[in-house]
Amino acid sequence: MNYRHHFHAGNFADVMKHALLGRLLTALQRKEKGFLYLDTHAGRGGYDLTVAAQGDTLARAPEYPQGIGRLWARPDLPEGLAEYVALVRKFAEQKGAPDDTLRYYPGSPWIAQLLARPQDRLVFCEKQPDERERLDLEFGRAARVQVSALDGYGAPRALLPPPERRALVLIDPPFEAQDEFARVARAVAEGLRRLPSAVYAIWYPLTERARVDAFFAELLALPLPPTLELELTVAGEQSALKMKGCGLVVINPPWQFDGEARRMLDWLAGALAQEPGGRAKSRWLVPERA
Ligand SMILES: C[S@@+](CC[C@H](N)C(=O)[O-])C[C@H]1O[C@@H](n2cnc3c(N)ncnc32)[C@H](O)[C@@H]1O
Repeated sequence: MNYRHHFHAGNFADVMKHALLGRLLTALQRKEKGFLYLDTHAGRGGYDLTVAAQGDTLARAPEYPQGIGRLWARPDLPEGLAEYVALVRKFAEQKGAPDDTLRYYPGSPWIAQLLARPQDRLVFCEKQPDERERLDLEFGRAARVQVSALDGYGAPRALLPPPERRALVLIDPPFEAQDEFARVARAVAEGLRRLPSAVYAIWYPLTERARVDAFFAELLALPLPPTLELELTVAGEQSALKMKGCGLVVINPPWQFDGEARRMLDWLAGALAQEPGGRAKSRWLVPERA
């Protein structure tokens, strides 16, 4: 396993994922009662974009200029995305970046930590020892945060249902292994058995449509509560780009999240397009009950 999120930090896929994650967390906070935020594949927590181009063995073109870089200075951010960029700015300030410099970018753990209330609890699972060490450095002393070496796919079995009986589970694996979609489906099945009312948000890359369709078929074979599929493509089907887009499956989306997400994605499709043919899509895989 040689995946490092560093190279991808702040790219278009992170923008979509983290902006929607922020809205999910905020929606769960409409209720006073605290909840568990479980990040099954947490990464290192936050990223210094100045090293985003340094690979383990190769130099790479950083991806954030085509992602957060496109939103950073926009004065016309719509609702949802304005809050997301404000969070990124808050993180940058905490890390000590000079005003208006896009140098630091928060991963999903920091997005959650910046929004969490005292009654919310955060568990971050990360398998890579050096990434987990960074997580420990960032959050080791934070109240209500636990950094865990648990295998992310086993985390739903180990940690659900939580005492709070409320949870948001982000499943965001590297999708390096051939069986990654199948492992996600099994983890979701286990999670649903243990806490059917939790919100599960599953990120996936749009590299091969057939694999995504097979994944949906696996999900639909489960006793699946209302489930929303959200997608953003930055190029058309025929593009040579390896990752033309990405998606987020949201099981048990909060009330009115579908409309909010749709408006955000429609705007992002324009702002983040890399080639003609990019678009936003949202559809219910399992519709909301009337
Ligand atoms: C896409 S990155 C996570 C990015 C992070 N969620 C964010 O949005 O900032 C995937 C991470 O999962 C880690 N990982 C891979 N397999 C894992 C497993 N079985 N359990 C936990 N973490 C794993 C990788 O080391 C990598 O840091």
